[in-house]
Amino acid sequence: MNHPLSPDTRLYIAGHRGLVGSALWRHFRSRGFTELIGRSSDELDLRDSTATARFFAETRPEVVVCAAALVGGIVANDSKPVDFLSDNLRIQLNLIDSAVSNGVRRLLFLGSSCVYPRDAEQPIVEEALLSGPLEATNQAYAVAKIAGITQITGIRRQLSLPYISAMPTNVFGPGDNFDPAAGHVVPAMIQRFHRALVAGDRSVTCWGSGRPRREFLYADDLADACHFLLDNYDDRVAINVGTGAEVSIEELARIVARIVGYTGEIRWDTSKPDGTPRKRLDTRRLDSLGWHARTSLESGLRNTYEWFLANTDEARVGGATRAGLPAEGDAPTFKGRHG
Ligand SMILES: NC(=O)c1ccc[n+]([C@@H]2O[C@H](COP(=O)([O-])OP(=O)(O)OC[C@H]3O[C@@H](n4cnc5c(N)ncnc54)[C@H](OP(=O)(O)O)[C@@H]3O)[C@@H](O)[C@H]2O)c1
Repeated sequence: MNHPLSPDTRLYIAGHRGLVGSALWRHFRSRGFTELIGRSSDELDLRDSTATARFFAETRPEVVVCAAALVGGIVANDSKPVDFLSDNLRIQLNLIDSAVSNGVRRLLFLGSSCVYPRDAEQPIVEEALLSGPLEATNQAYAVAKIAGITQITGIRRQLSLPYISAMPTNVFGPGDNFDPAAGHVVPAMIQRFHRALVAGDRSVTCWGSGRPRREFLYADDLADACHFLLDNYDDRVAINVGTGAEVSIEELARIVARIVGYTGEIRWDTSKPDGTPRKRLDTRRLDSLGWHARTSLESGLRNTYEWFLANTDEARVGGATRAGLPAEGDAPTFKGRHG
């Protein structure tokens, strides 16, 4: 069953100023969508069920992408489990409940590859969900995400609505959180190497052993995949979205250093946690539908670093400038939630 969106679809992108949400906004704008709806967390706190229900009743979106969440790197997740569980449960429950009660015809919920069991066989197939213990450092976030996926499958079964979930691998790109303490590995590394270059430091210390292997998806490719799935996917299985390519964190550090132009020594702080040893998604389900990522890791990293250099004031570096809201029709600006 196909559900193609059209440029006049009233599409609400929840979290439209975040890494993924802003890529979605750029994507749909560039494809001529004129009825995009976005609200910052200042305008609409999605943890507030009454405000969320009122917003849906007033704006009447036809289609919703849930890209709003409390998101953070390994240390943020590990140190604030209550926030990661409570905020995310509230945000997604309010979004999905309001969508159902206001007749939203199509909804895409974003899970994450970190919700799979810690020791899942690689590459990770969709069926691995709930088949074993989770990685301890992000358990609270993962449990919240699994609750969201379960709500989607329940809605499909009980209410026969074509709501779907996707499981993106690690995402990076313009507008990421560049705080070295709270951000994910790619922006944190860019920030670290950039600062070391500017300061003329002889060495840079990265967290962990450098040995874990990860897969990275450029945010604009994820936005394209979300559009593709909304048009073409209608199944209860939360579908993996990845590139199929894997690098070690050490290799990633070398690529980032090269792009930044940093030539000093790279050291590893093994007192910091590594997280899951390997994480690569099996993307055969999405491949078979005909979607593939287009951006190589190297070119995505170059674009991200260029964006970082051009937007340093707005890049989310712990307490950096809080930029304003997008003007009607503009790409959203970014606002830090971390640090
Ligand atoms: N980043 C990744 O590697 C990755 C990987 C897989 C899946 N995902 C999924 O993609 C989604 C978006 O992640 P992201 O990386 O784009 O995160 P992000 O950059 O931190 O953006 C999160 C967005 O959520 C909004 N938000 C947070 N709390 C809110 C609240 N209480 N009320 C209203 N809005 C709120 C923020 O709005 P404001 O900016 O207005 O405050 C922000 O725009 C998440 O569901 C995440 O699980 C991300």
